[in-house]
Amino acid sequence: MSSETTPTLDPSLFADGPARDARFTVAARWVDCANYPVGHPLRAIEFLHRQMNEEVDSLECSAANLRDFPDAAWELRLALARQCADEARHAAMFRRIFERRGGRLGQYPVLNFQYRIVAHIPSLVGRLAIQNRSFEAGGLDAIASGIEQARRDGDEDLVELFEAQRADEISHVRFANEWINASTQQNPRSVLDIGLALAGASKAFHQVMGSEATEGVNFPADGAARSEAGFTDSEVGLAIQLQTQQAGRSPLDPPRRG
Ligand SMILES: [Fe+2]
Ligand SMILES: [Fe+2]
Repeated sequence: MSSETTPTLDPSLFADGPARDARFTVAARWVDCANYPVGHPLRAIEFLHRQMNEEVDSLECSAANLRDFPDAAWELRLALARQCADEARHAAMFRRIFERRGGRLGQYPVLNFQYRIVAHIPSLVGRLAIQNRSFEAGGLDAIASGIEQARRDGDEDLVELFEAQRADEISHVRFANEWINASTQQNPRSVLDIGLALAGASKAFHQVMGSEATEGVNFPADGAARSEAGFTDSEVGLAIQLQTQQAGRSPLDPPRRG
């Protein structure tokens, strides 16, 4: 178990880290991970290990939502419970393919920024806006690029994995979008909660990632997946426009692929 706060992170912006067993080295910042350059022979397998841990983080965020908001609407709690099951399945899929390709659990440092940022947000609507509507929507774009790359490489196993993951991630973004829209219509205070969550998460994300993680990393917006996930046409248009204009990615799009 590790809380991995270092002097470079402001503890007031983060929840304590989730438990990891002794096999894992937990990094506090992106720069402390094994960031192999494009073309490095270990880059692809390290990604599978990192993504496996990020899926566990997603599971832990959804589980924390169930734990911390017992009075949320039953339908929303059901969607969160389903998300827990999906994320557990994703972690297992990434673990399987990682080990089949010769990886060993704990071989590379892991980063628990998602959980530490999301679990620190005091409102459920704020957590859904960051986790599902920002991180996972950014993940949809990255998965689409991952599918194209895997196709070009003739890596059918990875294409299949990403396609299965994509279908689930669309549903996670969609239920959050629906619930956020209903919530902001019923209770104007939700808009404030979302704004506060975005401001805090953006600061925290920048501390973890630094400029090194985001410079030159950009995936084109997956308009079809975003529409299916409940974004309006104008929101999809804006995402495409922003990602076309940006040299780097949005501060809330982590370097993940789902
Ligand atoms: Fe996932
Ligand atoms: Fe997800």
